[in-house]
Amino acid sequence: MNRPVMAANWKMNNGPTAAREFMHAFLDQYPRQNDRTILIFPPALSLHAVAESIADRQDILLGVQNVHWADQGAYTGELSVGMARDAGARVVLVGHSERRHVFGETSEETAMKCAAVERGGLTPLLCVGEKLEHRDSGIAEEVVMEQLRVGFSAMTQLRTKEVMVAYEPVWAIGTGRTATPADATAMHMAIRTELGSICGDRSRTAAILYGGSVNASNARSLISAAEIDGLLVGGASVDTGSWLSVARS
Ligand code: PGA
Repeated sequence: MNRPVMAANWKMNNGPTAAREFMHAFLDQYPRQNDRTILIFPPALSLHAVAESIADRQDILLGVQNVHWADQGAYTGELSVGMARDAGARVVLVGHSERRHVFGETSEETAMKCAAVERGGLTPLLCVGEKLEHRDSGIAEEVVMEQLRVGFSAMTQLRTKEVMVAYEPVWAIGTGRTATPADATAMHMAIRTELGSICGDRSRTAAILYGGSVNASNARSLISAAEIDGLLVGGASVDTGSWLSVARS
């Protein structure tokens, strides 16, 4: 298995003051670990606070939750990849389920965003996942593979650049329902195979994370499952106590 990646997606939680407090408490109890990478996706306004707190921690990386696909311009309220890089981010979440299903982001837009992330020299973490109706009608894999193919379709250096994927079934996000390790493994294997045709040998080292109602109780069994290289955690990452348990799983 690749070096595990434990990723915290704070969503719209932890402004700068709370982010500083969180990081202080977390770092106090989480000394440097050489066997895993921690990835934190704070809200953009808290990037600076988190970046400052991890300045001497190479095992912890910073990411942003969303970017615009343009390099700059008249896009009120948006953030560019260059700005994210300048603020210390190394990874960009693209196509998170809430972006797709609450804000109507399309797979074509995720493709433009992944291309922008590549141009800007950061790593895209493309989120894919089916809705319950897709799973019930037996087309979950088809939906996920299509999101994967389209999402990476506008990148030009896939064979040399790092990409990451998070499989997050929509029905598992924030619902308390988790995919079984066996179901997640099956989808991760399909993703790895598809990545092989998209980016060749790079697919072997691409981290494929699972996300969706991961918590302190189920994190260990999920991270131990074959083909699960890491976890993308929402609700259980906002509070230091539960995040510490997940990060140590
Ligand atoms: P959840 O969110 O852990 O609260 O289900 C996961 C995510 O949205 O990345």
